[in-house]
Amino acid sequence: MDDPGLDPNTPPGLHLVSGFLAMEPTDSLLSMARECGGGSITDGVQRFVWEHCISKTVKTGYAYYIKNFVKKLIFEIESSHGTVADELYEQYGYYMTSLRDDVMTNGNSRVCKCISFLFPAGCYRLPSFPQSRKLVLPLHCSLNMLEGDTGCSLWPSSLYMSEIILSFPDRFMNRSCFEVGSGVGLVGICLSYIKASKVTLSDGDLSTLANMKLNLELNQLSTGNNVPERSGETPKKVKCIHLPWESATEGDLQEFMPDIVLGADIIYDPQCLPHLVRVLAILLNQTKTDAETRKEDYQVSSPGSKHHHVEANGSNQENIHCDHDLASSDPACDQRCSTNKAYAIKEYYSRPVAYISSIIRNVDTFNCFLELAEQANLIATDVTETLKPLNLLPYMHSYNRSSIRLFTVTCK
Ligand SMILES: C[S@@+](CC[C@H](N)C(=O)[O-])C[C@H]1O[C@@H](n2cnc3c(N)ncnc32)[C@H](O)[C@@H]1O
Repeated sequence: MDDPGLDPNTPPGLHLVSGFLAMEPTDSLLSMARECGGGSITDGVQRFVWEHCISKTVKTGYAYYIKNFVKKLIFEIESSHGTVADELYEQYGYYMTSLRDDVMTNGNSRVCKCISFLFPAGCYRLPSFPQSRKLVLPLHCSLNMLEGDTGCSLWPSSLYMSEIILSFPDRFMNRSCFEVGSGVGLVGICLSYIKASKVTLSDGDLSTLANMKLNLELNQLSTGNNVPERSGETPKKVKCIHLPWESATEGDLQEFMPDIVLGADIIYDPQCLPHLVRVLAILLNQTKTDAETRKEDYQVSSPGSKHHHVEANGSNQENIHCDHDLASSDPACDQRCSTNKAYAIKEYYSRPVAYISSIIRNVDTFNCFLELAEQANLIATDVTETLKPLNLLPYMHSYNRSSIRLFTVTCK
């Protein structure tokens, strides 16, 4: 039986389960387990961990992670003279004989982890709000950060970009989105979830592209190349293309004409920057013809678009309504709804915009990007302080959101 105070659907139990599913560092998980027990790993916490974490994932790819975690749990409980549950000893004993220690430290080991985006209850008016209040996305990732030219592991900037998409869905829904350097594909899965009209992901590394496709399929999205332009429904297809920035030509990119370009953690290699900036400039310079814009106006105001309507009024001004633009019980969400609405009114017909999230590891490299952008007639604006996402990953202590900056990039 569970500890009566611990519930897998509310914190701190929810955070412990989510941290476990996301394979948070085991020390961080241990501190969440302690928090669940009011400072120590009680018998109730052990039962909770067994029932809601270990026994539910024991037959999946969590074996090495569980082995590590249980080893630390046992050590901590024994050190404080507690009694270790039989199930934990047995599971650890089984792994001791069946798992080799060197497997996870050698080569390109892949794991499948689940990222849970946890929505505050007051945000129920956001179109991205899931009924269960959590959006759980499984992802195949490598434990080797360099595998696939770094694209097979999940980087914090794409967690941040995902929080932006889920916090400000009106900016992306019914818009055609194109991501460069997509890595494991998390951003594309979130774009598809909030009903972007078209989602194209790209990467320059072929093994990353293969892993990305695997992840899209794992999340019930298909990766065929004939994605319908605007179906009025969630695009269940996401296009994945091989796009090394160095060899991408205007011809390669002209078929896409995205409304929004996205990039997470792509500014780190000075040698790639001129090519990246050239790709951004081509994508951001594309202007839709009047006919294409009119076609999209119709589809945005059609019954298929559930949350967002544009109506032309007598004075040739647009009235834009968000269905969720009603008072919610959370001021942070109210602010996001009105920001979404103001943004929709101002920007809907403007030229494409890029959102770039980045950890600035090297100031010189980042300044080089800004200079190249300026030379290419692009305006990069730091919007980190004005566009703050909801904290949807409160359990993820390894994710330091304060180290990430968000930029918009547009053509002059
Ligand atoms: C640090 S990873 C970030 C991946 C993902 N956006 C994330 O945040 O999790 C950088 C990504 O950019 C891709 N990349 C790096 N250089 C590239 C290039 N010259 N052309 C195309 N893609 C490139 C890598 O393959 C990798 O997927």
